[in-house]
Amino acid sequence: MSTTEQRVAIVTGAARGIGAATAVRLAAEGRAVAVLDLDEAACKETVEKITAAGGRALAVGCDVSDEAQVEAAVARIVDELGAPTILVNNAGVLRDNLLFKMSASDWDTVMNVHLRGAFLMSRAAQKHMVDAGFGRIVNLSSSSALGNRGQVNYAAAKAGMQGFTKTLAKELGKFGITANAVAPGFIATEMTKVTGERLGMGFEDFKAAAATQIPVQRVGEPEDIANAVAFFTGDAAGFVSGQVLYVAGGPLN
Ligand SMILES: NC(=O)c1ccc[n+]([C@@H]2O[C@H](COP(=O)([O-])OP(=O)(O)OC[C@H]3O[C@@H](n4cnc5c(N)ncnc54)[C@H](O)[C@@H]3O)[C@@H](O)[C@H]2O)c1
Repeated sequence: MSTTEQRVAIVTGAARGIGAATAVRLAAEGRAVAVLDLDEAACKETVEKITAAGGRALAVGCDVSDEAQVEAAVARIVDELGAPTILVNNAGVLRDNLLFKMSASDWDTVMNVHLRGAFLMSRAAQKHMVDAGFGRIVNLSSSSALGNRGQVNYAAAKAGMQGFTKTLAKELGKFGITANAVAPGFIATEMTKVTGERLGMGFEDFKAAAATQIPVQRVGEPEDIANAVAFFTGDAAGFVSGQVLYVAGGPLN
């Protein structure tokens, strides 16, 4: 692939939140972007934002934990947008509960979306990266990977994303493919809004309380994460691989 050709990126969970901001950011970097989420219609807003700014984007409905849907989605992206050489595994869900109250199905759902989803998407996309001799994979981890009360499933999945990332970096480096993880702290999205509601707090109060615990004294915005992903997916980041970048407004213990 010549470097003047437009690179194709897939962003999963891109209908809203961090994924939507990342899709818009990568499009602004000149990428053609597959905006992938559970519901194709829900991707419309992100796609319109990209096309209104003069970019190229495609809405793709796909459950990342479903093998057949992932294979079909990637094949469709190759046909309609081009072979993907950038993949951002961002799709995610919460099923929080204390261990003794957590159902096996809530454990499985979180493992399936984050880990199985990232595995299936990476396996389907990597062959196009190998063919191109270039690839960028970015996986969304979390500060919860370090342990977080009420999130035994999510913390395990997000720590798993880090081992997954480092292994991809080792296996795929010789093909010009890098793999890195971005681990956000508190980012204002629907996900944290719902967490606040579960704790009986309005979103503004929840964000203000969180901000007091963060060194830069504010919560993160989806664009804070999109900026970090843009760095890792850039052509200039080819010697940065297997890293976990915490983007949390300060260091984490
Ligand atoms: N918001 C935070 O504070 C925060 C912190 C650390 C990590 N993260 C991680 O960042 C990522 C994005 O989080 P967000 O806050 O934007 O969440 P969000 O809930 O706003 O958006 C997640 C998106 O993923 C999609 N999705 C869920 N299951 C899917 C599936 N099986 N297939 C395809 N798409 C699916 C949802 O439909 C949704 O559009 C997640 O991986 C999350 O765990 C978020």
